[in-house]
Amino acid sequence: MIEYESLANSNQQFMHELEAAATNVIRSGWYVLGHEVTEFEKEFAMWVGSRHCIGVANGLDALILSLEALMLPKNSEILVASNTYIATILAIIRAGYKPVLVEPDPETFNIDPLRIKSALTTATRAICVTHLFGKACRMDEICAIANEYDLKLIEDCAQSHGAKLANRMTGTFGDAGCFSFYPTKNLGAIGDGGAVVTDNDEIADHLRHLRNYGSKQKYVNKYIGLNSRLDEIQAALLRVKLKQLDAMTEHKRSLAEVYFKNLPDCLSLPRQKEDEYDVFHIFGVRVEERDRLKSWLLEQGVKTEIHYPIPPHKQEAMQGILHGEYPIADKLHATELSLPISAGHTVKDIELVADIIQQFK
Ligand SMILES: Cc1ncc(COP(=O)(O)O)c(C=O)c1O
Repeated sequence: MIEYESLANSNQQFMHELEAAATNVIRSGWYVLGHEVTEFEKEFAMWVGSRHCIGVANGLDALILSLEALMLPKNSEILVASNTYIATILAIIRAGYKPVLVEPDPETFNIDPLRIKSALTTATRAICVTHLFGKACRMDEICAIANEYDLKLIEDCAQSHGAKLANRMTGTFGDAGCFSFYPTKNLGAIGDGGAVVTDNDEIADHLRHLRNYGSKQKYVNKYIGLNSRLDEIQAALLRVKLKQLDAMTEHKRSLAEVYFKNLPDCLSLPRQKEDEYDVFHIFGVRVEERDRLKSWLLEQGVKTEIHYPIPPHKQEAMQGILHGEYPIADKLHATELSLPISAGHTVKDIELVADIIQQFK
């Protein structure tokens, strides 16, 4: 059986260092907002190329708190891709704004810059882009629109650790870049974790309050905050894995290369472009007979996933909130299939998956 991903396998290479790092934190007696979080924030900010990093409890909170820190008027409209993971949309709603869906480019799965202008109204205040599957959105075009219309820009980088456009890291284009360290992510913790990166001193200071009850000084509360802190133990584990993140990304890129060379023409493969450095959080192909291929692969011993089976506008929770038709999102959700690709897979595993898919009739 080839698993879609085994986290135990993916983390095997770090096992001794992770155990030592966890033991150090347990023995230190300091478990929340201490040395490990401070050091991780410095190291992650440096790695991304941002001035500030603020650790939080998860990727959803990174988005909610960043959007809140923009302090836009209540019910401001925020543009967001119609096929993003639901968390991006939940964050906009939780922060008190109104999500307005923009269809993606089916070739990239990312918000289509050519459709942004027609979604603007007098209430639009920001764009929240998701660099889905580990591919950077076309930030050159999106930043130009944001500048022209004076819009704020938040980047959902939950799937794009290290992804670049024209050599520039995702997370450094907008007002804030929001990361998730959920265990399956390219930089994954051993539990939940998240962070925001920003070059903006005011947003950074606001976030340092918001994540800690609205307080930076004990028992002095400046904002209506949350308890959303990155744990010391997760920060210590993330520091171990951050050192190897570039190597892990290169490994995933070499696995993707095997797919690009060996997959048959009946699948539409991820778009490749010279100035886009993809990190393949997910290797998502499009195929008309998606469900039949998925079941057949399982019979052959290959596990796959679908990202995602139900588009946001069709979710029960979004009825009465998201209006309109989104045929491109519908089509992507009906045809997407995610093939195995992870730190725990070998080139041989991926060659085998590609060989098996070639036999699909
Ligand atoms: C695109 C996207 N945004 C946000 C999130 C939320 O991150 P978390 O699960 O850490 O809250 C995720 C991941 O789950 C995601 O894939």
